Amino acid sequence: MSELQTRKDQAIAAIDAADNLDALEALRVEALGKQGWISLLLKTLGQMSPEERQNQAPAIQAARGEVADAIAARKAALENAELERRLASETLDLSLPAPQAPRGSVHPVSQVMDELAEIFADLGFSVATGPEIEDDWHNFTALNMAETHPARAMHDTFYFPDRDAEKRQMLLRTHTSPVQIRSMVAQGAPIRIIAPGRVYRSDSDATHTPMFHQIEGLVIDRDIHLGHLKWTLETFLKAFFERDDIVLRLRPSYFPFTEPSVEVDVGWQAVNGRRVLGGDGDAPGHGWMELLGSGMVNRRVLEFAGLDPDEWQGFAFGVGVDRLAMLKYGMDDLRAFFDGDARWLAHYGFSAFDQPSISAGVGARA
Ligand code: DAH
Repeated sequence: MSELQTRKDQAIAAIDAADNLDALEALRVEALGKQGWISLLLKTLGQMSPEERQNQAPAIQAARGEVADAIAARKAALENAELERRLASETLDLSLPAPQAPRGSVHPVSQVMDELAEIFADLGFSVATGPEIEDDWHNFTALNMAETHPARAMHDTFYFPDRDAEKRQMLLRTHTSPVQIRSMVAQGAPIRIIAPGRVYRSDSDATHTPMFHQIEGLVIDRDIHLGHLKWTLETFLKAFFERDDIVLRLRPSYFPFTEPSVEVDVGWQAVNGRRVLGGDGDAPGHGWMELLGSGMVNRRVLEFAGLDPDEWQGFAFGVGVDRLAMLKYGMDDLRAFFDGDARWLAHYGFSAFDQPSISAGVGARA
């Protein structure tokens, strides 16, 4: 037994004296590695008689614990010393001039999300987020899409093959609408939020990618009506497109989570053969473009989220962020957004120094 004691003391003394991480690692292997002496001693336990084992095992285990602790402590001390050394020796000259040609740019999707957050902050909205890996209840059921609801089929959902520990069917969220549910459940009413984020659908062509971005809006309060919805969307779109002549058309539609539901079109006019937003959509040479879905939050959705629909009402809307970016900044192929091509980013990206702000105008000055 004292032989074990001596060896252990020697090992710990060597560990405490190790002056670099490589030396420490060598000592670890020597004691605790596959062929290390402590590991080999542990292996001998199997051949001992039960009494012998009962006697030896605790001592060997204790020695292993002490050596492992000594190694961990020495490792932390060496790493700490290395950090201190670097902090003392490395310096950063903040007075150096900025690089001649700044590298990197803000992706149009991030730019547009920043612009939206700024516009809606000015209207008293805060930004909410939710998980991209969502469960079936938040993504569908609580939004008034029961398991057999036909609207589910339209979402081309990516499902996970296995259920989670609580037996929930997990999926990649197909829209940002589940954040409505999460916000109502978490904070109750009143609510004024926008929820930007990634969403996923099994779909791919020039205007569809399996991952894209949406922004959801939700307002819950007393006595909210469709007029509030229309004013909010008009104010937001005028600020976003930086034009006062933005005209909206609300068309009756259907979404399971809103009642009534409206699809919102925005008027455009042809200028030099290009469609420019603004102007009267009904006049000759003008037209309407479908932009977003919205409506008054369905009573059933309020109930699912634990709110009393006789006390609280609200409106919601959902719009594609990538689509907003394409309309404002003139890209025509959505797939290029996610190619990571540095030339595309250099052309369409924005300066990180050019933060959108209401006072300076949310549009980027490229
Ligand atoms: N979640 C819908 C979609 O992805 C968009 C939408 C429509 C969101 C109406 C809403 C809404 O909040 O009220 O197609």
